[in-house]
Amino acid sequence: MTAYDIIMKKRRGSELSQEEIEWITTGFVSGDIPDYQMSALLMAICFNGMTPEETSALTTAMINSGDTYSPSKELGKICIDKHSTGGIGDKTTLIVAPICAACGVYVPKMSGRGLGHTGGTIDKLEAIPGLRTSLTHSEFISVTREAGFAISGQTGSLVPADKKIYALRNATATVDSIPLICSSIMSKKLATGADGIVLDVKVGDGAFMKNYDDAEKLAEAMIRVGKLAGKKCTAVLTNMEKPLGMAVGNAVEVVEAIEALKGSCPEDLYEISLTLASEMLAIAGLGSPEKCRALAIDTLSSGKALKALEKMVKLQGGDAKAFYDYSLLGVPTHTREVVSERDGYISGISCEKTGLVSLGLGAGRKVKGGNIDPTAGIIFNKTVGDFVKKGELLGKLVTSSNCDIDAAEKDFKDLFHFSDTAREKAQSVIKIIRS
Ligand code: URA
Repeated sequence: MTAYDIIMKKRRGSELSQEEIEWITTGFVSGDIPDYQMSALLMAICFNGMTPEETSALTTAMINSGDTYSPSKELGKICIDKHSTGGIGDKTTLIVAPICAACGVYVPKMSGRGLGHTGGTIDKLEAIPGLRTSLTHSEFISVTREAGFAISGQTGSLVPADKKIYALRNATATVDSIPLICSSIMSKKLATGADGIVLDVKVGDGAFMKNYDDAEKLAEAMIRVGKLAGKKCTAVLTNMEKPLGMAVGNAVEVVEAIEALKGSCPEDLYEISLTLASEMLAIAGLGSPEKCRALAIDTLSSGKALKALEKMVKLQGGDAKAFYDYSLLGVPTHTREVVSERDGYISGISCEKTGLVSLGLGAGRKVKGGNIDPTAGIIFNKTVGDFVKKGELLGKLVTSSNCDIDAAEKDFKDLFHFSDTAREKAQSVIKIIRS
């Protein structure tokens, strides 16, 4: 076997065997296959795709590159995981995991950091003073046992193949390929070993999948790989044409999630969070999705989910007083209120660009491994479908970073699209695909 032959085979559109995929993945992780050959193969995969068997073989090869876990064996109870394909303003994990935990379903969750213009749960959580996201395995299990869920960063030994391949994809314009995204996400989900997985597949301008057909193909590919591994999987296709909720950043998103758990939640965030929670409870065996939705609503309104998040934050070393005094999350040194220059209905908010404005304010990383400003971000005052009058507040930009806030204000204003007539609001939950 040679890397050259494998690249040529894929370039010509033929199907690679399981052995070839395993061989080249192992060789790349060990350093025997150089970056330039792996890059060429990734580009050939982007152009020619992969069959379901190849995607599954790549996922397996990636899982085999590192450690694997079986939390339900250690905890003696079914464990459910969720994953979002990446979006703007997506704080659903901070709402959904406590709801499930408060309903008695364990959610041992390994999460990621922000990627490009998209945010990451670990960065958001670290806005809470003292909270530790690099837990040892035994801490991860014991927090899950006590709080019902834990959220930890991914360790270096979890799918090292993904780390190496993802870095290469990022540098070679090969990120948005369905089989590559599928194997990247599913290898990490399967290696962490939950019994069931709910996938939030984002669709639209702010997502990796810009159109519905591609998002549906990605969802089906991930469900197929999950099913082959013997897991229950559900994919929920959700709208990412606009930022989710009214806050984008880190501390500002934590505040929005806590407020949601206290009973005050924007419509789209409520709908998506409840749908994800009900599907997680349903695959955990608590009943039909309809019954589980009613259970999730009760749990949220009773305040039990808020208590679950507080418990998890304390166990991970965070200061839970911040739940009742948001200034403990840090007070931004600069706040810029931005008003509308016209009357009209807001017909759209450019989503990917929202992520970039937030990144420019300091909420994301401009370079790999760079620092983020936890206080930075955007708090919208108006959203799609709202009527706004000239001079009314559109939103606030907050930051403690040394950034060009005048430029951010201009870019923020440009995010808004207006129309003279009211339009129907887009659905937040587009489709649910159950395995
Ligand atoms: N998230 C991942 O973990 N991997 C991808 O390839 C895309 C989004």
